[in-house]
Amino acid sequence: MTGKTALITGSTGGIGLETARGLAVRGASVILVGTDPGRARRAVGDVRRSAGHDRVSALTADVTGLDGLARLGSQVAERCDALDVLVNNVGVSLPRRELTADGVEKMFAAHVLAPFTLTHLLLPRLRRAGRARVVNVTGGIPGGPIEPGNLLGERRFLGWRFSHYNHTKTMTMALTARLAGELRGDGVAVNVVYPGHGYTPMNRSIPVAAFPRLYRPIAPLVLKVVAPLFFSDLTRSARSSVHAAASPEAEGVSGAYFDARCRRRPLPASALDERGQRAVWDLCARLSADVLAAAQP
Ligand SMILES: NC(=O)c1ccc[n+]([C@@H]2O[C@H](COP(=O)([O-])OP(=O)(O)OC[C@H]3O[C@@H](n4cnc5c(N)ncnc54)[C@H](OP(=O)(O)O)[C@@H]3O)[C@@H](O)[C@H]2O)c1
Repeated sequence: MTGKTALITGSTGGIGLETARGLAVRGASVILVGTDPGRARRAVGDVRRSAGHDRVSALTADVTGLDGLARLGSQVAERCDALDVLVNNVGVSLPRRELTADGVEKMFAAHVLAPFTLTHLLLPRLRRAGRARVVNVTGGIPGGPIEPGNLLGERRFLGWRFSHYNHTKTMTMALTARLAGELRGDGVAVNVVYPGHGYTPMNRSIPVAAFPRLYRPIAPLVLKVVAPLFFSDLTRSARSSVHAAASPEAEGVSGAYFDARCRRRPLPASALDERGQRAVWDLCARLSADVLAAAQP
């Protein structure tokens, strides 16, 4: 990866940090993204020490907001002419329906609108890299069919069991399939990966009420003992992202889904459904239209 540049969102902690480390250790210049400047500074030092080089920097941006994405896009443009890897890693898991300042449901904003908008904002740089790779990060359980009238959870929102989380992650897969088709002629590969379980800041905050009723009595044990014991090795959780971003085996592969063990799996039917894909694409295009138009040279 020496000579290549990678941008990883949500990479000052959790799985994204290990993804950034994995790419930096392979020689890539990496740009980390998080919301907190202090954590960003510490993460830069940490990754530099692991990688043994100082081509590691950070930007702070909230990628759930269109303003944040626009600023991030222009800051990246100032730093590099070509971008070889973009990992859209930020994930949000919420028990209640929350809207961003743009009026967009927050999990949709993080898992669907952010990858769509950032990929388009950075497209000139991705094209310039030649054979660039975009990696989108999904969740484990396909969330059933995409509901075109409920993309923002406006009609039905099932938060506690992460149903809308799963719904938006299915949309991440649908977006990946559509983007891969759209960018085929641009030399930009787009794939989606599942990281597997990782004991990260995100799921340290999962409440007991998020578990199905039957499992609630054992939930504290799972959260406090089992998860830290078995899922603390985040290098394992970052494997699929690093694989899709850097491995020779993934070269030339686009529109694919890699599981937590980096095996290629078919995308679920719900992600391949054209009506769902179109609904997701059209909504993202509409919501990001002003930001993308303003970024035109
Ligand atoms: N962990 C799992 O078991 C698991 C399982 C399946 C899928 N996934 C997926 O894997 C990805 C990474 O998960 P994770 O568990 O590592 O997440 P995480 O613990 O929430 O990741 C923390 C990182 O994300 C940054 N971040 C959070 N919100 C952000 C925002 N709005 N804008 C920019 N940066 C933001 C944090 O920076 P600050 O602290 O500065 O905000 C920090 O760097 C997500 O897409 C998630 O859905 C995770």
